[in-house]
Parts: sequence; structure tokens; C-alpha cells
Amino acid sequence: SSFISFTFTLELFVLGLPLPNQGQAKDLPIATNGQPFPWDRMRLPKTISPLHYDLTIHPNLTTLDFTGVARIELDVHEDTSIIILHAKQMQISNVLLLAPEGIRPLHVLEYPHFHQLALLSDSVLTKGRKYEVQLEFAANLSDSYHGFYKSSYRTSSGEVRVMASTQFEATFARAAFPCFDEPAFKANFTIRIIREPRHIAISNMPKVKTVELPGGLLEDHFDTTIKMSTYLVAYIVSDFLSVSKTTQHGISVYAVPEKINQTAYALDAAVKLLDFYDNYYDIPYQLPKHDLAAIPDFQAGAMENWGLSTYRETGLLFDPDRSSASDKLGITKVIAHELAHQWFGNLVTMEWWNDLWLKEGFAKFMEYISLDISYPELHVDDFFLGKCFDAMEVDSLSSSHPVSTPVENPMQIQEMFDDVSYDKGACILNMLRDFLTPEAFEIGIIQYLKRYSYQNTVSSHLWESLTNICSSDDLDEGRLKHREFCAKRNLPSGLDVRAIMDTWTLQEGFPLVTVEVRGREVRLSQERYLKTDDPSLTEGFLWQIPLTYMTSTSNTIQRFLLKTKTDILYLPEEVDWVKFNVDMSGYYMVHYAGEGWNSIIRLLQHNHTALSGNDRANLIHNVFQLVSIGKVRLDTALELSLYLSRETEIMAVTQGFGELVPLYKLMEKRDMAALENQMKGYIVDLFRGLIDRQEWTDSGSVSERVLRSYLLLFACVRNYAPCVTKATQLFNKWKDSDGTLSLPVDITMAVFVIGARTPEGWDFLFEKYRHSMQMSVKSRMKTAMTVTSLQDNRASYGEVMKTQDLPGVVVSVSKNPHGYKLAWDFLRANWHTLIKKFDLGSSTISHMVTQVTNQYSTREMLDEVRSFFGSLTEETGSEMRCIQQTYETIEDNIRWMDTNLPLLQAWLNKRSHKVAHEDL
Ligand code: BES
Ligand code: ZN
Repeated sequence: SSFISFTFTLELFVLGLPLPNQGQAKDLPIATNGQPFPWDRMRLPKTISPLHYDLTIHPNLTTLDFTGVARIELDVHEDTSIIILHAKQMQISNVLLLAPEGIRPLHVLEYPHFHQLALLSDSVLTKGRKYEVQLEFAANLSDSYHGFYKSSYRTSSGEVRVMASTQFEATFARAAFPCFDEPAFKANFTIRIIREPRHIAISNMPKVKTVELPGGLLEDHFDTTIKMSTYLVAYIVSDFLSVSKTTQHGISVYAVPEKINQTAYALDAAVKLLDFYDNYYDIPYQLPKHDLAAIPDFQAGAMENWGLSTYRETGLLFDPDRSSASDKLGITKVIAHELAHQWFGNLVTMEWWNDLWLKEGFAKFMEYISLDISYPELHVDDFFLGKCFDAMEVDSLSSSHPVSTPVENPMQIQEMFDDVSYDKGACILNMLRDFLTPEAFEIGIIQYLKRYSYQNTVSSHLWESLTNICSSDDLDEGRLKHREFCAKRNLPSGLDVRAIMDTWTLQEGFPLVTVEVRGREVRLSQERYLKTDDPSLTEGFLWQIPLTYMTSTSNTIQRFLLKTKTDILYLPEEVDWVKFNVDMSGYYMVHYAGEGWNSIIRLLQHNHTALSGNDRANLIHNVFQLVSIGKVRLDTALELSLYLSRETEIMAVTQGFGELVPLYKLMEKRDMAALENQMKGYIVDLFRGLIDRQEWTDSGSVSERVLRSYLLLFACVRNYAPCVTKATQLFNKWKDSDGTLSLPVDITMAVFVIGARTPEGWDFLFEKYRHSMQMSVKSRMKTAMTVTSLQDNRASYGEVMKTQDLPGVVVSVSKNPHGYKLAWDFLRANWHTLIKKFDLGSSTISHMVTQVTNQYSTREMLDEVRSFFGSLTEETGSEMRCIQQTYETIEDNIRWMDTNLPLLQAWLNKRSHKVAHEDL
């Protein structure tokens, strides 16, 4: 075999294929048959690219496997005799080269470690000539949630039905057919699916005909796609039903037959949102149809396959009588997100996964832009800054990463689907839009999409498109309203968008701006906000920060681009207070030094509505986060929190909970009941007035309704007597009616949680969960059952629940003071099964890891966590970022407790003393 390896290497060398190790045979990877594999990188060579795929796929839903044939037309850019492409866990056979001079078999080598095949030709494929390769393949339908995978569901009569669906992003098209599985290898796809007559098949494109095959099978032929990446290919074989509507575009929603009556809302939303994007992007939707399908087994939330987006059932199905306001908001946002991708991601695609944020940050951002305009009644604006808080949580750890980060292997690629790509991406786009003006931003986006349609991009292409928008040639063909905009305005032409934005996408973390007002002078300085005890880690960072501010004497928004480490602003007159980062449209924190925080506390105490709800939420967030890094004393943050007894706006209230609740959650995992209860009492007291004012109905705006369910759930979980009494009564009534009584949707979570506290109540809920067809009701029952304090780990849960819902339940149990040890033990004991099912690096796994452990605050727990993750190997996940995040979070909790527990105790004592006196 050393002879063979020598000849192959020599041949490669002669043919000029770029061999990174200069043809040293001994360093080449070894293929499965023992021969050297002629390529040693994870990324495919650029010598050959695919132009067109002809795919025939035949899934067998009885034997749960599939066979197929792929014929790939190639574009040869450099002479070569080797074709490297991807295939994963499939048998390959009958590989042929269809060359101008005839058909010849190809020799196949497999290198499973990189999911690669090498097809070796005994003659050279010459540049510019047309070749095709044809491969036959066979594999099992996957038992996971990616590739071509099996899904099943139970009808109300108990029958189990099987179907097959695809999820290819990011690196799983290669598990369904041999392909060049990188986003920059765009090609056209012509797909045929063989099925039984009792099923239907759908795919990216409309069906053009169905052919009957000998033996009674049917073959559906789908129209050829436009140029697209492999990760966007999709096909489903099922017994789904559909509902359709045709306005500008033909849109259909597919679901299992018994849930088809829950698809009306999604259908309307899809019609409305696709029309919105047509108009916003000024480019019509590119395909003849769009289908949305609710898949019974689905790992993520949804997927933007071109022409056929797929969803979790809870993400798409809506029952007007049983779904909640936040269900409606969630479903509308998911659809808005996946449809935004049909342009941002599908039409214009990132060159490689390092710039994943280009599509994910953008789609997340567009959820808010599109809903704001198409669904003003949902007031989505009330929720955006929550995304920036989420992003800051991971971005304040030294294990964070820049928005654009080099990645290579599938695990690293999966890990890019995180809060940095999505939420930080969306927040920095929002900051830029606010800085450039919405009109200028829109013009730049349209130019970007038009310029790069059917192509691939890197971040700097976006920045260039957003620079000098009014001087571009593209504008001539653009819209009237944009030409008018440019004619009217003198936009700063020298503005270097790229220089500004590079500081946000190429550096990790975010700045803390310290503001100190002295008379008319405002001193500014910036540094990295980092939760660490090693200050050297914050050095060397500098951002260009689009600051905004207003003052006690002027509520017009002032702007200033802070480019240096320190600077000084001059106010026209002396002021009582300043508020920076107006409405939190910027991705940075602010520390008000000197008397700054005190003047803000006074303002909130006496006249909190002088600031917007978002500004108030922002101040609550900032002041508590500054306690964590020792910039502000805990007393100051707690003094600020006192004004919350008069707060009514959703973001400020939920942020108040968001900062205060974790403090007692940390204590619940330690033996310190007295302080824990004092803290719980303080929070209930703070919001008592607001809780008492809640009606037990479904009235009001979306924000009011979301807030109501939140408050009542909190009150009941915290045993607030009026809430418990009412919820108990309602639960009993509901139970007595055998679940037929229709409860107001907003209060069901509180009612179920109280009901689940008794064994009879829990069992009744469980029975109803088992038989319900309403996804949102089921999901509330499921959560309620995990909040119980019942000790006996109620049996048979696992057989009834879908595995896709397991991670959520584990996390929910881990937040239960009676369950957190159980959840951690479960995670450890089932680690290997979990990573196999949900894949290393997936956000499902990292979410479980961080959420199960993020309320630990003792050295013992840290040691335990370290010893488990320390025992993993690279194959079982030791390199995952979430492990570092977990360590850092627990370390931060320990520091927080060490520093602040005595202060918290003293402050609460002082306060209860004061309250007792006031009562006299
Ligand atoms: N492209 C993603 C789906 C995805 C996620 C593929 C992770 C591969 C790995 C899709 O557009 C998406 O972002 N889905 C979100 C839901 C959305 C509303 C934020 C998800 O699944 O969480
Ligand atoms: Zn997305």
C-alpha cells in the first residue's frame, strides 16, 4: 500500500492540486480503505464547483431508510483529476463520470472524519469543459433532528404515523445526499421524490408533475430552483393537510390533519409579512410559492428553507380561543424571521459561517422592524431591548467572541447560532439604523441586496453598501421616495461606517461609558464591561460609540460619536440630570459617576415618567450590572429599585424582576432560608399594588396581557395569598368541569401551577396534557408540572413527552428549588445520549448546560461542575464554549455573594425596620 500512496501523491503533485503539506505522503489523512486521502483540509478545494444537482430521493417510511441518486453538473476552474465533496454516514455506490468523451466509473475514497469523499478520475478534468458526476447512495432516516430525519406523531385515536423531513443547516445536507456542502457553492437543484400514494411530498419548488412507477409508487417532479446554497434545500414526505391563500404570492401552511384548523393565523401572517418584505426590500419574493410546515419533531424554533420554511408546532399553530398574547407575538415573530431570510440569507448569503450574524442578526432585527409596521397592535417595540440585555449577558464574559469569528468544524459552526450572532447582531444593527436614520439605513440595505443577489458576502460588503448611500449609481434605478430623501438631505458623506462597525463586529464585548457631570462639563470615558477579577483583561479595547443623551432641560435627543478613550462634552446650561443611551438604542452600558446615580434615583422617585419605559428598564439593568463589577454599591441599586412600586410598564417591570429574582434564586440553592424569604417578601411588596390591580381576564393590549400572566404567575409561585386563593378556586372549577370550562388564557399558567401542587391536580393536568391537541395549552401544562414541589418525580413523564421538549423541561426543573439537583444529575447521567441526539455545540445543548448551572454560587458546586466537564474529551464536548461560560458565571455568582450578602442583609433589615415604624 505504500506504493499506491506514493503514486497518488505524485500524481497530485504533478496535477498541481494545492497540497498544503507539499505532497508528503505520510501526512495525508488515511481513507477508510487504507489509501491516502488526497485532501487534508476541512474546507473544500475551489478547483471545482457544482452548477446543478439532479436529485432523486426515495424514502421508505416503513423500513425507515432512503436511497437516492445525485447527478451533479460541475464547473471545473482548474485542471484536476480529483473531485472532493461531502457525504456523511451513507453508503455510496456506482459513481460515474459523465464526460464529453463518454461515461467512466470513478474511484471513491472516503474520509469520514471530515465528512468527505474523493472521486478519483484516471483522466484529467479540464478547465472550462462540462462534466457531470453521478452517485447512488443509501442511508437510514436519521433518529436525530437533522439531515433527512424521521418524525412521528400520534392521532387522537392513538395511531402512530411516521413522516420524514429535512433540516440541513448548517452542515447536514451532506447526510442526505452527496454535495458540496458549503454556503458559497450555490447551484440549481432539480428534485424528484418517490413516495407511496397515501403520502404527499413537498419541496422548495412547486410540483410540476407526478409520474406513476411500476409497483404503484409515485414520483413527484419539482421545478428547478434558482441558484442557492445546499443548507436551504428541503423536502418533506408526510400525510399533512394544507390551507392556502393566493394574493401576490401563493402561500400554504401544512400541518398534521388534526391540527390543520390551527393554521389560519399563520397563513394570514405569512401573506401579510411576505408582502411587507416585497415592499421594504424593493425586490419581489423570488419563488413562485412559499409553504410553511409545522413539523411534529423539530429541534430549533424554525428554519428558513427557500420556499418551504419549517417550524416547531408551537411556533406556527395558533388557536384563537386557547393561545395567549405572547403565543401570538411569538408566532408572528418566527414567521417574520424566516421570511426575512428569504432575502437576507437566501438571496444574499454569507460567504462562510464566520459571518453567520449577517443573516441571523439581520433576521432577528427584521422581526422588530416588520412587526412594528405590519402589526402595530403587537407593540413589539416594547420588547426589543430585552434582546440587548440577553446579548450583554454572554458578551460580558471573557469567553465571549466577536460577532465575526473564524470557525471551521461543524461544532464551532453550530456554536455560532448564539446570542452574539442573533441578539448582539440585531442590537448593533439597531444602533446603526438609529445613527444613520431609518431612511438611509433602508436605502443601504436595498442596495446591498440588489448588488449581491445570488451571491455571497462578508461583513464589509454590508458596511460599504451603507456608506455614501446617496452618491451611488444604484440609486438611479431605486425608488422615488429614496431619491427624494437624498435630494432633501445633506448626509455626512465622509462617514466611515465600516470603521465604526468594525469596532463592534471584530472586537468581542461592549463598552461601559462612564459619565461625570461637573457644572456644564460632561466627562466621558470608555472601557470594556467585563465580569472578571482580572482587570488586565479589559485593556486594549476601543469602540466608536454613537452616544445619545437627553437632560432635565431638554428632551430632544443629542448625539455624539465617542471615538476616543476619554472626551468632554459641554452642555448649554447646568442640569439636574442626564440620561445617556436614550431608549437604549445603543449597545453599551452607562455608569453615572459622582452624584449621577443619586440624581437619577431622585428623578425616578419623584417623576419617573419624565423618562420612557425603555429608559427606566435600561437604568435598572445598568445599575444592577454595575454592582456586579463593583462600580456601584448594592445599596444604591436597591434604593433605585424602590421606585418600582409605582412602575406599570412591561419592560421596566420585567427588568426589575430580572435583576431582583436571581438574587433569591441564588439563595434557594444554598441553606439560607431567612434572608431568602426576606428578599422574596421585598419583591412581593414592591409589586403588590400592581398585582392587586390585575384583572383575571384577557383584556388589554399585548403588553398588558403578557405582563398580567407574568405577574399572576409570580404572585402564585410566591404564595401571595389573594392569588393562591383565586387560582385554587379556578383550578377546582376547571377540574370539576373535566377541563371543559374555558379559563381566561392569560391566567392559566398561574392556575395550572397552583393546581399542580397537589398529587390529584398534577395527575389531572398530566391526563389533559397527554390528550391535548392544542400546542400552546400543552406547553403551559408541561411547564406547570415542572414547577411543582411534589417530591416523587412523577412517573412515566418521559413516555408521553416528545424528546424535542426534554431540554426545556430539564431547564425548567433546574429552576425549581426542589429539582435543581435532579436536573444536574440528569444532565450528567445522560450526557452521551443528549449530545448524540441534539448534536455537540447546538444551542439546545449549550442552553441546557448554562441554564442548569447558572444559579450555582458555591465553591463546592463549582468544583462539581468542573469535575464533570473536566472529564469530557474533545469528542464528547470538552471544547464547547458553554463550559467556559458556565465556569465564569458560577465564579461571578460566588464573587457577588461574597461581596454583597452582608449588604443585602443590612439593607433589608433597615427597610423592614422602617416599614414597621411607618405602620405604627
Ligand atoms: N436559521 C435558523 C435555524 C437554525 C438554527 C439552523 C440553528 C441551524 C442551527 C432560523 O432562521 C432561526 O434563526 N430560527 C430561530 C427562531 C427565530 C425566531 C429566532 C430558532 O430556531 O431558534
Ligand atoms: Zn434565522
